[in-house]
Amino acid sequence: MADPTNSTSSPFDLVVLGAGSGGYACALRAAQLDLKVALVEEDKIGGTCLHRGCIPTKALLHAAEVADHARAGASHGVLTTFEGIDTEALHARKDRIVGQLHKGLTGLIGQAGIEVVTGRGRLVDAGTVAVETAEGTRTVTGRTVVLATGSYARTIPGVELGPRVMTSDQAMDLTEIPERVAVLGGGVIGVEFASLLRSFGAEVTVIEALERIVAAEEPSISKHLTREFKKRGITSRTGTKVSSVEADETRAVVHLEGGEDLEVDLVLVAVGRGPRTDGVGFEEAGVTLERGFVPTDERLRTNVDGVRAVGDIVPGLQLAHRGFAHGIFVAEDVAGLDPQPVQDVTIPRVTYCDPEIASVGLTAEAAKGAGHDVDTVTYPLGGNGRSLIRGTTGSVLLVREKDGPVLGVHMVGLGVSELISEAQLAVGWEAHPEDIAPLVHAHPSQGEAFGEAAMLAAGRPLHAHA
Ligand code: NAI
Repeated sequence: MADPTNSTSSPFDLVVLGAGSGGYACALRAAQLDLKVALVEEDKIGGTCLHRGCIPTKALLHAAEVADHARAGASHGVLTTFEGIDTEALHARKDRIVGQLHKGLTGLIGQAGIEVVTGRGRLVDAGTVAVETAEGTRTVTGRTVVLATGSYARTIPGVELGPRVMTSDQAMDLTEIPERVAVLGGGVIGVEFASLLRSFGAEVTVIEALERIVAAEEPSISKHLTREFKKRGITSRTGTKVSSVEADETRAVVHLEGGEDLEVDLVLVAVGRGPRTDGVGFEEAGVTLERGFVPTDERLRTNVDGVRAVGDIVPGLQLAHRGFAHGIFVAEDVAGLDPQPVQDVTIPRVTYCDPEIASVGLTAEAAKGAGHDVDTVTYPLGGNGRSLIRGTTGSVLLVREKDGPVLGVHMVGLGVSELISEAQLAVGWEAHPEDIAPLVHAHPSQGEAFGEAAMLAAGRPLHAHA
């Protein structure tokens, strides 16, 4: 154990290691519940979501939508032209948004009376974290330690990162828009970046090892996205493996298995995110790891008494809002409020490519696999006035237990991200389509499409063709 140059005299109730979505939410909720909290962070409070993930990428995706609107102006009778991307202004706006949220968050943490310990933390034992601060090693002790160290962008073995080969961490700050891009991985990050780089003017090829892009979604969603991407000029190469990548300062060549080569100006590696559990003392302190992740029970307890884990290091969905929910759960559980455990199946998932994808609950296949007797209906956005006005196609697919509750909702189309809240209520509250069908939806809204899907599932369709 490191020789502490400075130890805290009184122990904390909670020591949280990592101030990303899971960690800071846990710290804030615990402070609200009058627990004494230390929050250990080596970088900026806010983590991946605020600084390298959700917020900056969605700012870029919003700019991509503006670029598409500029291109489409004339078809709406508005005379606009797209002249290109000013990357300096693009990043200045993105960074302003991140900066504003970061300032707000640090203010909240400060007001809550949370003690932020800046430096790299390492779990020493069940109640102890050693932090390498600028002033030396500080030992922070607590009744409960919460591991919240988050995740990192994985790369492909043998593929070296550089000026022409990067992960989303670097691609977030591109100073020029490349002409030709190969995106390795057709998951969430892959399709979001493919979408925005295409809107910014790049020629984009997505290379996915599995048989379809966004393979975690309903097959009909992968099909629709592939088709819409194709219309936008994005090529999806599925069932395709990369054997190696060669790159210098000016270009990169992706060698595909089978002998084909793809020469591009930028390779974006988006093949998943791994847990950040190396070199932080977890295993040495006795915490069991499985493929690098920290397995927990449903109350997010690790195998070591008094050590909990939240967010991306816990096997399951890697989403910021799952991290928030985990953090809040642990704070409330430690405070003795007996909260309900977080269930991945009711967590909404949104992918912000164009067209967007939003889903919650079980796919039809997963529902059948879980033993449900399943009925599905699909309501096409082609019958929804507001979607037509917005110039998007897509659908709402509703999975229900025969004569029972809604088990899953799976949507694709520009604007469906905003329909997910109602869909998650339906799944979370185990509503039957018959409960939703009589609820009046505002007209004309895209939300009507969800109402119409429920009406269809309840056997009383209005604007649906037989
Ligand atoms: P992912 O797991 O969603 O997708 C990775 C894809 O890469 C998979 O389809 C996989 O088959 C493919 N792949 C793996 N190795 C490959 C290879 N050698 N060649 C070709 N394809 C290969 O991971 P992704 O997109 O990196 O995202 C990481 C995490 O971040 C996800 O859990 C995602 O949910 C989360 N995220 C969520 C966002 C949102 O909620 N909007 C936005 C961005 C990320």
